Amino acid sequence: MKCIKSISGMKNFSRMQHSQGFKIGFVPTMGYLHKGHLSLVEIAKRNADKVVVSIFVNPTQFGPNEDLDRYPRNINRDKKILSGMGVDALFLPSKKMMYPEGYLTYVEVERLSKILCGASRPKHFRGVTTVVLKLFNIIEPDIAVFGEKDYQQAVIIKRMVSDLNLNVRIFTGKIVREDDGIAMSSRNTYLSSDERKRAAVLYKSLLLAKDLVKSGEKNCKKIKNRMKKLIKSEGGKIDYVEIVHSESLESLLSIEDKARAVVAVWIGKTRLIDNMQLK
Ligand code: PAJ
Repeated sequence: MKCIKSISGMKNFSRMQHSQGFKIGFVPTMGYLHKGHLSLVEIAKRNADKVVVSIFVNPTQFGPNEDLDRYPRNINRDKKILSGMGVDALFLPSKKMMYPEGYLTYVEVERLSKILCGASRPKHFRGVTTVVLKLFNIIEPDIAVFGEKDYQQAVIIKRMVSDLNLNVRIFTGKIVREDDGIAMSSRNTYLSSDERKRAAVLYKSLLLAKDLVKSGEKNCKKIKNRMKKLIKSEGGKIDYVEIVHSESLESLLSIEDKARAVVAVWIGKTRLIDNMQLK
């Protein structure tokens, strides 16, 4: 596996692959890899000839009081895992290269970036779309893979790709979970052992919603209230509990085919997100 640290080096690698007729599959990450990330690498491998993974803890998607400085990192471990999986190139840009002095340009997907996670993290998605567009321009992937774990992020990226006529096809990977159902996340490492147990309540609340729908409940307000009650009973502080249309992300009053439950909950000082298709 090639470890590439410069933008020109990354562009050269991609041009070389394309000139030989290879299709590039790309998985952007912030590192500290777990099985969720690796499932996306597998999707990239199945759908492209060469796989590029990036690791970059992107400062523009963190708010001033968020966890940028303490975000978990372990580059050597990540490198070993990726090279063992047969990844062709790992792109490791520096902050200075991605955002040199005088940097002023941002891309924003309106409306979708202001709701749900965007309501409590105002510039988060602007940071995500900006860095992903930059990475697309540097790597020029034919396909790119995102996880449903960050469901709103995947919807926003698809919107950006369509709106800006980008030449990349977006694939999504299902949420990979731990044995007790909690969605794998680099941020789970922040949880104490007691919090880690209580964090399973996000998944439990989603299963509850799914069960209620299965038993014929159609009223979203009633379902959300049951979910909220359950989350609070485990001491979770709710940021949002919503049932939305899975493409427009608009809040639903009544269950329909594309209903998806999405939750963001504080367990102690850690904010966790999860989601599940209800029908
Ligand atoms: P990061 O949190 O490292 O996640 C990288 C990719 O892995 C994202 O597409 C995310 O949805 C996916 N992922 C995380 N946990 C997962 C799980 N349990 N199951 C399946 N997929 C999972 O998301 C980001 O980084 C950044 O915002 C990024 C897109 C790299 C831009 O900076």
